Amino acid sequence: MLKDYFITDSDAENQRLFSEKVRTMNSGEKKYIFIQTFGCQQNEADSERICGMALAMGYDKTENEKSADLIIVNTCAVREHAELRALSITGQFKHLKAAKPGLIIGICGCMVSQNHRVDDIKNKYPYVDFLMGTSLLWKFPEILWKTLSTGKRGFYLDSGNEKNISEDMPVRRDSSFKAWVTIMYGCDNFCTYCIVPYVRGRERSRKKECIIEEVKGLAAEGYKEITLLGQNVNSYGKALYTDYDFADLLSDICKIEGDFKIRFMTSHPKDATKKLIDVISSEPKIAKAFHLPLQSGSDRILKAMNRHYDMEHYLELVHYMRGKMPDIAITTDIIVGFPSETEEDFEQTLKALEKVRFDNIFSFIYSPRNGTAAAKMEQLPYEVKTKRFERMLELQNSISNGKNQSYVGSVQKVLVEGVSKTNPEKLTGRNEKNRLVHFDGDESLIGKFVNIKITKADTYSLLGELVGKE
Ligand code: 5AD
Ligand code: SF4
Repeated sequence: MLKDYFITDSDAENQRLFSEKVRTMNSGEKKYIFIQTFGCQQNEADSERICGMALAMGYDKTENEKSADLIIVNTCAVREHAELRALSITGQFKHLKAAKPGLIIGICGCMVSQNHRVDDIKNKYPYVDFLMGTSLLWKFPEILWKTLSTGKRGFYLDSGNEKNISEDMPVRRDSSFKAWVTIMYGCDNFCTYCIVPYVRGRERSRKKECIIEEVKGLAAEGYKEITLLGQNVNSYGKALYTDYDFADLLSDICKIEGDFKIRFMTSHPKDATKKLIDVISSEPKIAKAFHLPLQSGSDRILKAMNRHYDMEHYLELVHYMRGKMPDIAITTDIIVGFPSETEEDFEQTLKALEKVRFDNIFSFIYSPRNGTAAAKMEQLPYEVKTKRFERMLELQNSISNGKNQSYVGSVQKVLVEGVSKTNPEKLTGRNEKNRLVHFDGDESLIGKFVNIKITKADTYSLLGELVGKE
């Protein structure tokens, strides 16, 4: 049952024509695009497509907003904090527009798929030239052409039933050794706290042949780490295929030749299968790191969150995983202060952290999202939420620290990512388990796998010495 969400060849050709028109318009003087990205890896991946399309239209990328002719703010809506930061930075661009009236400012991403934010921007940010909904990314050339040629503001918003998967968007990747590959868009789960299903639409998977081609290309170019992206990768292919799932896709990707590691995110515990865990354990190319958002350790809260699993199911998955791969790194997301969370519920979450002993957690204070079911429930006081949040961090920090200490003395294969942000004297990278590793080394090692002997560990990272290159 192939769903009709793929854009047609003639749609793609049309966009190429718009792209050509903008390119012609831009020829003559050098033009620059500046992209500010907020939020998750999917947004980063989208920004790389936007940049690819902009390059095809004659722009160069700049890291300095002051020299830009085109500014794109790619927004996130998952928590209020991210929205406020995007609005604040958009506010700061006002004076740039005043100084350079030809500057075009566009806002895209999850925030502009909410009506109240669209109204906000229309009324309070009159210097923003266009809005582009998440399902209309592939129409960026047309949107930019219309903006440039009419000089009018345009609001291009998701209608909910747009065709929207395009295999024809050029990409300009930020890294030459780490790549994102989106395998599916949207989410059908409607967890009661989450805005994603409203702003990213229904689940849509890319065709497996297209994904495999993309990964083959990346492997041939020498990419060392390929991360498959989707809001719920475990339901990959559901609407497309009857007998091909995420585990099958992973197996097929592992057949591609090359020295690269595969990661994937995000998984939903209700859909993570033993078949998937078996594939991970048997394929050396798949990093032995599993991000499995738990959200809460209380069955009552999990139910209120509409998560469709309980602690018992979650622990069974963890048990099965560790049975097959004793040293697999398991990480999770936790939300603290969901409406109606009691002290007892919260203690269940602490207990879950103690039981599972996650390698790392990404923890969030619950943030009510307009239009979601949980936003209509009675909210907990801010101080209760922040106090619980701090208690949880304290517990997890001691667990993470203990886990990190166990690396001391071992040799880790590390993909070198760059110069350390906290200490310019050191290089930094990540091991297969996604732990940050700092060490002394030459910048020529960036983008390569190296062997590092771990000499010291703290809560957040490992310190080591270079003992070999691959
Ligand atoms: N408030 C706080 N955290 C949230 N997340 C999603 N929605 C919210 C919200 N409204 C967290 C979840 C999810 C992660 C990406 O963000 O833990 O797994
Ligand atoms: Fe949001 Fe739940 Fe979908 Fe994840 S699975 S994107 S938390 S609705």
